[in-house]
Amino acid sequence: GANNMSAKLVLLGDMGAGKSSMVLRFVRGQFFEYQESTIGAAFFSQTLALNETTIKFEIWDTAGQERYHSLAPMYYRGAAAAIVVYDITSLDSFNRAKKWVQELQRQGNPNMVMTLAGNKADLTAKRKVELEEAQAYATENGLFFIETSAKTAQNVNELFYDIAKRVLKA
Ligand code: GTP
Ligand code: MG
Repeated sequence: GANNMSAKLVLLGDMGAGKSSMVLRFVRGQFFEYQESTIGAAFFSQTLALNETTIKFEIWDTAGQERYHSLAPMYYRGAAAAIVVYDITSLDSFNRAKKWVQELQRQGNPNMVMTLAGNKADLTAKRKVELEEAQAYATENGLFFIETSAKTAQNVNELFYDIAKRVLKA
């Protein structure tokens, strides 16, 4: 009916940041310590209900390995939402996330709902990226920001529900 919509959502970020793990946690409620690195991209769909509306996410989980970078525009083109993921224990992954944000700002859909997600929030003892630093960067760039853990499920459903709400308003 009129209250059912679908939305293309893409995950981008460095290899090993936990994109696939976040999607598997959200879609299947699963987590694997030895998650395989994604080749090319993987597709998932999941429907969320918000009051009278259902939103079907068509999720593209992209591969973070550099050799797949050139494929990324196929996945973010026409996307209603993007999650740029980094690993809070890796400064390199945070810097890579900033590059993705720049690329999306230049070449992505201008109405795209963008979220910066600091994943592996369970690994506090190994933290390299301070929450305040990431929050400040997100605010400067007009992004929503959240820290998640695919392992413990912290904030994973919250992240997708928040995106659904913002996509419906956009
Ligand atoms: P590519 O597909 O290569 O781009 O990587 P990815 O971003 O999909 O990362 P993936 O989900 O494959 O996770 C990489 C590794 O980090 C795996 O060994 C996961 O088990 C682990 N991992 C993912 N999320 C978390 C988390 O929240 N906490 C912890 N402790 N480990 C995690
Ligand atoms: Mg992956």
